[in-house]
Amino acid sequence: MNTTIQLSLIIAFVLFPTIIRGSQVIYVQPEQIHLSLGVKSNQIVVTWTTFNSTIRSTVCYGIESMDQVAHGSQNEFIDDGTERRKLFIHRVYLNDLNANTTYKYHVGSTQGWSEIFTFHTFPMGHEWSPRFVVYGDLGNVNGRTLSRLQDEIQSGNHDLVLHLGDFAYDLHDDNGRMGDQFMRQIEPIAAYVPYQVLPGNHDNAYNFSHYNNRFTMHSEGDNVTNNHFWSYNIGPVHLIAFSTEFLYYTKYGKQQIRNQFDWLEHDLIEANRPENRAIRPWIVTAGHRAIYTQRYVNTVVKNGNEFGPGFEELFFKYGVDLELWGHEHIYERIWPIYNGTVFNGTNDNAYYNPRAPVHVTTGSAGCILLPPKILQRRPEFSAFASNDYTFTQMHVINGTHIQLQQVSDNQNGQIIDQIYLIKDNHGTYEFK
Ligand SMILES: [Fe+2]
Repeated sequence: MNTTIQLSLIIAFVLFPTIIRGSQVIYVQPEQIHLSLGVKSNQIVVTWTTFNSTIRSTVCYGIESMDQVAHGSQNEFIDDGTERRKLFIHRVYLNDLNANTTYKYHVGSTQGWSEIFTFHTFPMGHEWSPRFVVYGDLGNVNGRTLSRLQDEIQSGNHDLVLHLGDFAYDLHDDNGRMGDQFMRQIEPIAAYVPYQVLPGNHDNAYNFSHYNNRFTMHSEGDNVTNNHFWSYNIGPVHLIAFSTEFLYYTKYGKQQIRNQFDWLEHDLIEANRPENRAIRPWIVTAGHRAIYTQRYVNTVVKNGNEFGPGFEELFFKYGVDLELWGHEHIYERIWPIYNGTVFNGTNDNAYYNPRAPVHVTTGSAGCILLPPKILQRRPEFSAFASNDYTFTQMHVINGTHIQLQQVSDNQNGQIIDQIYLIKDNHGTYEFK
């Protein structure tokens, strides 16, 4: 028997049955698909997960048909839990997209494609009225607003989601399976609009590794991803996201406190250049732990601690208009405030030309921890509070008007609080 015949027999009778019996399920079907803002405003990043490596990471996309193809890369991410579970995180950048245009797309590889999703790109320039959905503290146990959010986003009512930290409760739990399930649950939201994020305390496990690996945040114009602090120009808004957690989790390093602070100051100086502030007058910041709450003032976030500076002085100095926060598992609107003193705009309308930044805590989208009670006697600075499960709709109408509405899931989608933040002029408060 010659060698070729011997080999054939081995393959036919020995190897082939062994392969079938030994075959394992392979997980190359894409899941947990979500979008985020790219390096430039005409770019979108698509991120997704598989549990086995795939041949390629590909997005097919287009306007009428999916006739364009973009390839990207995959990163192996090993969870630090006892099972050392392995995930493959895929990232593909869609370049040179047309402005104000609806695209359809699917993701994957020749080993498996997702269903087809759509997204709508932002209009060009600054003269348009972005509609944000903002919330924090959303998990998959008791994620009360989730289905309403899915419905809202798929109805095309919003341009972007901003999730202010604390995901899944927690992303790393059950060897990361909790994170997987959460990312599946937000896919009906995040596959349709950019899902922009910042870190919360619940995301700190293993030096924020799940948070770092599962999301893809860019500052506008910066090729390097940074999920902890970033900024972006969206219509008439300069939006800044940052970490309050560096001040707390110093076991992961202290230098990042100063790095972030220096970056924030540089970013605020740039945003305040007259030519920039003229076309993007609103500066809105977003962080996790609120400074002013019904129960306490967070002096660490406000003033800093032994490891580094806080943020109130910085944001006041550079004329931040609106500060968005999570963490408290309630909704709370604060009167315009600086250093504990209320600086309302006019007697009739506190939010008309306020003389200090306006703070809103919207950390109540739904999580396993029950919301705290609303105190009968709250500090003077607390204008309104609710422990309903809610999210914020932020409609930046133009350079002078922002509408903020709080949507309650407990009350079947009713708007339980609304303000118009109106500013004839923007800029440093000290100069007024
Ligand atoms: Fe939190």
